[in-house]
Amino acid sequence: MTAQLERICRVDEINEGESRVFQVNGKSILVAKYKGKYYAVDNICTHDGGDLGEGKIIDGQVECPRHGARFDIRTGDVTRMPAVCEIDTYKVIIENGELFVSVTD
Ligand code: FES
Repeated sequence: MTAQLERICRVDEINEGESRVFQVNGKSILVAKYKGKYYAVDNICTHDGGDLGEGKIIDGQVECPRHGARFDIRTGDVTRMPAVCEIDTYKVIIENGELFVSVTD
């Protein structure tokens, strides 16, 4: 397995408290801006496959639109049931105003 840096967008394309979904190396990844920092996590809810990109960002957590589970976008940890398993997180790097995500293939 090798880690790869993938460019996803310009930093100004994601506003504070918002998120966007990108397809990176076959993975659906949600990138959110919270308190001035960018975070990348899996876009798929571990409860039953909900599309987290269709949910809201609330106090640094993404809420699944299907049954309301929440995950901390900084750590991927579950913060509200019914999900019990965390989501994966990815390293985000900023270079020359561009966002890159580190993914492993
Ligand atoms: S699929 Fe996300 S809470 Fe059920």
